[in-house]
Amino acid sequence: MSPTTTTRPGAANLPRGEELLHDPLLNKGTAFTHAERRALGLEGLLPPHVHRLEEQVARVMDNYRNKPTDLERYIHLVSLQDRNETLFYRVVVDHIEEMMPIIYTPTVGQACQQWGHLFRRPRGLYVAWPDRGRVEAILHNWPQRNVRVIVVTDGERILGLGDQGVGGMGIPVGKLSLYTACAGIDPAQTLPVMLDVGTENEGYLRDPLYMGVRQKRIRGREYDAFVAEFVEAVGRVFPRALLQFEDFGNQNAFRLLEQWRDRVCTFNDDIQGTAAVTLAGIYSALRLTGKTLREQKLLFLGAGEAGIGIGDLVVSAMVDEGATLEEARRNCWYVDSHGLVVKSRTGLAEHKLRFAHDAPPAPDFFAAVEALRPTAIIGVSTVPRAFDHRVVEAMSAMNQRPMVFALSNPTSKSECTAEDAYRWSGGRAIFASGSPFPPCHLDGKTFVPGQGNNSYIFPGVGLGVVACQARLVTDRMFSAAARTLASLVLPSDLELGRIYPSLTRIREVSAHIGAAVAEVAFRDGLAGVPRPDDVLGMVRVAMWQPVYREYV
Ligand code: NAI
Repeated sequence: MSPTTTTRPGAANLPRGEELLHDPLLNKGTAFTHAERRALGLEGLLPPHVHRLEEQVARVMDNYRNKPTDLERYIHLVSLQDRNETLFYRVVVDHIEEMMPIIYTPTVGQACQQWGHLFRRPRGLYVAWPDRGRVEAILHNWPQRNVRVIVVTDGERILGLGDQGVGGMGIPVGKLSLYTACAGIDPAQTLPVMLDVGTENEGYLRDPLYMGVRQKRIRGREYDAFVAEFVEAVGRVFPRALLQFEDFGNQNAFRLLEQWRDRVCTFNDDIQGTAAVTLAGIYSALRLTGKTLREQKLLFLGAGEAGIGIGDLVVSAMVDEGATLEEARRNCWYVDSHGLVVKSRTGLAEHKLRFAHDAPPAPDFFAAVEALRPTAIIGVSTVPRAFDHRVVEAMSAMNQRPMVFALSNPTSKSECTAEDAYRWSGGRAIFASGSPFPPCHLDGKTFVPGQGNNSYIFPGVGLGVVACQARLVTDRMFSAAARTLASLVLPSDLELGRIYPSLTRIREVSAHIGAAVAEVAFRDGLAGVPRPDDVLGMVRVAMWQPVYREYV
């Protein structure tokens, strides 16, 4: 599909006048040409001078940079998205490094926390517990029919911020913006969904401006039945849609993934997307250390969705390298809020059991580092500054180039700052974080910390799935995405300590990941279209571009 041939109406059946100006997918604002203004009833409704898209971008950026806070910048951008999506995406794509922390973590987290207070106009679909039994009818209310990517949350575990109830809607909205900005998924084909089953957050339940269902969360069988009604209704109303689960509490996330992954086209980004971006970071780091994956011993702080998801994918990649399952699992160790995860512990959650090894307990993370002598520490615990100077110094004494990945979001929850990691390791740490850190200067050398941002992975995976109409999303697709991402890191990136490509190359990265994912789908018989000779070309052509269509 070329960028100018979309499923949107042709000029003859476009809305006219005021209605056209209020349709964010079609509106061009001051960029409507004189001929379009005449033909579409817009004369007099706009100031007379016609601006080019580039000039509109300059105006947005002037205003954007005058805003006093990141939250104000977020509001400015979301309002633009509500008026003119093409201009919004042009702005974001052209300034992706600057905008990513605003439309996604960390700023989106603040927006979720203040959702009821910032609310201006709705975006996406709210499917609430009182609507059970009528979910399919609610999906039919969505104005677009050709939905290809849905991101759904129930708001229970938003970033590292806990239960945000209905305010969690900021996450599907933000993630889908990244699908479009980073991988060219047509915004008309995206659908953010909030499954509102209540909240445990007392502050919200007491807040008169809270906009969600005012009750404690539904759990157990009733919850599962509600999610099932939603997933099955999606299959009927939007049969070509990829369904991404996002920011569910970990008890539900693992179970729902197991329940649905072999039945519908779905994945969980917190588990599988995080795993792939982290595995890619490890592959890049190995280019610096010259070691193999099988030689690594990983110690995680946090044994939740992110941690276990990473462990599972690392294990399958080690097995691909020839390790046995048992050997591979023994290379992955976990410390959770009760200490080292070992066999002798009772009451371990199901998802931790496969990593519970025969070993003495360790009272805290530092003791576990000393006892296990890992090559990499991976923080996915939401415990700020848990990688203190003792931990980083010990890692640096044991390893020439220790991997220190502090992945918890937002920045305030990060296990270690980039500057501390470089300082305490004498510049030897290979550092990555979940939220961005600025470049650091140490002893005359500049370090550019890598951001293990899921946006390197999920948009490209989605693009590949959409382009080849894959029926399922598999772990092999995520491994392929990780290898592809690592292969795109340039030697000049590695020299600066950066183990991910520059975000400015993200659309190119996503195209390559999309092609790698589609190749897996073709090879494994999961694609819904025949394999073309040029798979990368097929993926590129499927990418929507933020440029204006000519209407007349
Ligand atoms: P989760 O809630 O599933 O898991 C958190 C884990 O941390 C649990 O195992 C818990 O026991 C452990 N934990 C809590 N307090 C602890 C303590 N004091 N000491 C040791 N362990 C402790 O959450 P999930 O999804 O695994 O996310 C964790 C963090 O990782 C979040 O901040 C999230 O934003 C971040 N994350 C980062 C990603 C990235 O950078 N690409 C992607 C996904 C998540």
